[in-house]
Amino acid sequence: MDVVIVEDQESLGTFAASLVVEGMRTDPGLVLGVATGSSPVTTYRALAAARMGGLDFSHVRCVALDEYVGIPVSDPASYHSFVRREIAVPLGIPPESLLVPDGNAPDLAAAGTAFEDAVRGLGGVGIQLLGIGRNGHVGFNEPGSPFGSRTRVAVLSETTRADNARFFARPDDVPTHCLTQGLGTILDAARLVLVASGSHKAEAVARAVEGPVSEACPASVLQRHPDATVVVDRDAAAGLKRTGRRHASLGGDWLD
Ligand code: F6R
Repeated sequence: MDVVIVEDQESLGTFAASLVVEGMRTDPGLVLGVATGSSPVTTYRALAAARMGGLDFSHVRCVALDEYVGIPVSDPASYHSFVRREIAVPLGIPPESLLVPDGNAPDLAAAGTAFEDAVRGLGGVGIQLLGIGRNGHVGFNEPGSPFGSRTRVAVLSETTRADNARFFARPDDVPTHCLTQGLGTILDAARLVLVASGSHKAEAVARAVEGPVSEACPASVLQRHPDATVVVDRDAAAGLKRTGRRHASLGGDWLD
């Protein structure tokens, strides 16, 4: 696992975006797995700046990690809305190139299988961007999720519902269920890039990067992936003990 420590959330976005741009150089039709929430917002902003600089995203396909169950896709808090608003529109990715789990399907188990088939049909995810929950979740794979899990309905933990209440008018409006890629689905991506910023993520980052690989901390499964990069700002890196982490602002030298 490659751990890159940068100064702040802005440089985190610049660094993570540079990994996506690098991926697009080898594959202009990159299948980009996208996370929602606050962590990757500066990454999407940096990618939008690259588009302004002439980079063409029109052949990129986007695959989302998860969606709430039971909120209309037109609701601004839905992940369909997030992906359109924060990613597809600013990057110029056509709507038909977006794949988001269908949290309103009458048969959610079948929707999970259909999503998996669709990802396979795209040839799999090239680069998967991830955030991390304070409890170590990735996607909405809460602690205890099996490492081999596939796209399925999952129950949101109360900490996750409380953390995500900021996106809803009232805390009770936060859905209780979601349709999320499983940890096994996420591990199938060729490359994983997890971004985390802020001191409230420090403990989860330390457990994911330096703790035991355990379903108690779902993000620790990244330690088993052959090409995983964790990009954190100084505050989110505060709990890391081992030295030898790469510091992007030092031009890629290793710190120790
Ligand atoms: C989002 C997702 C979640 C978030 C995580 C962190 O699609 O799957 O795992 O990445 O909850 O959220 P933020 O970045 O808002 O702190």
